[in-house]
Amino acid sequence: MEILGSGAEATIYLETARGKRQVIKDRVRKTYRLPQLDDELRKTRTRREANILRKLPLPGPKLIDSDGKERIVMEFIDGTQAKLLLDKEVKLARTIGAQLARMHDAGIIHGDLTTSNMLVKDNTLYFIDFGLSFTSKEPEHKAVDIHLFRQALESKHYRVHERAFQEFLAGYRESRHADEVLARLAVVERRGRNKAKY
Ligand SMILES: Nc1ncnc2c1ncn2[C@@H]1O[C@H](COP(=O)(O)OP(=O)(O)OP(=O)(O)O)[C@@H](O)[C@H]1O
Ligand SMILES: [Mg+2]
Repeated sequence: MEILGSGAEATIYLETARGKRQVIKDRVRKTYRLPQLDDELRKTRTRREANILRKLPLPGPKLIDSDGKERIVMEFIDGTQAKLLLDKEVKLARTIGAQLARMHDAGIIHGDLTTSNMLVKDNTLYFIDFGLSFTSKEPEHKAVDIHLFRQALESKHYRVHERAFQEFLAGYRESRHADEVLARLAVVERRGRNKAKY
């Protein structure tokens, strides 16, 4: 078994079972959290992620198995993190916008939209890392999702973030509810700026 990564929350292993490569995502115990709270958080995030993977109506890793507590087994996507591509390929942001439009139209909020949580394989964009996801049709929730993505662009892709966000918007306009959500985004961002003054 090979370790693919160990993020803030989870250790990601790659293994081969019955000739197929699969990913194991283990949400490891965090000793800085109270044990009970830690168990609860790991369980909620594991269940959220498994539930979304089960019903995701767009490209993403297929769920293979989950213990409903701390472990998820899913399909391995042999792709490249969007994070490593976006600076040279700003148009990728348009695809991100179009795919997010489909996800939001299906009533799914990602909750952690960064370019490390997207993989590109054969010109297809796959979303991953659904531990903070939930279902909602509220423009507010969709707008916050987009606002977090914009902040992620500003911090990880500062050289291209303005162009990238314009591309993203061009893609997102494919959503049936784009006008409503983008109007809400303006409200969310105004609120953010006002908060910063205090
Ligand atoms: N199904 C998969 N196929 C290929 N690579 C994956 C897959 N799942 C995760 N990875 C790789 O491992 C990295 C970390 O995975 P992920 O984002 O799910 O965990 P994390 O950020 O540590 O967890 P979390 O944000 O839930 O705490 C990803 O950025 C990606 O490079
Ligand atoms: Mg991640």
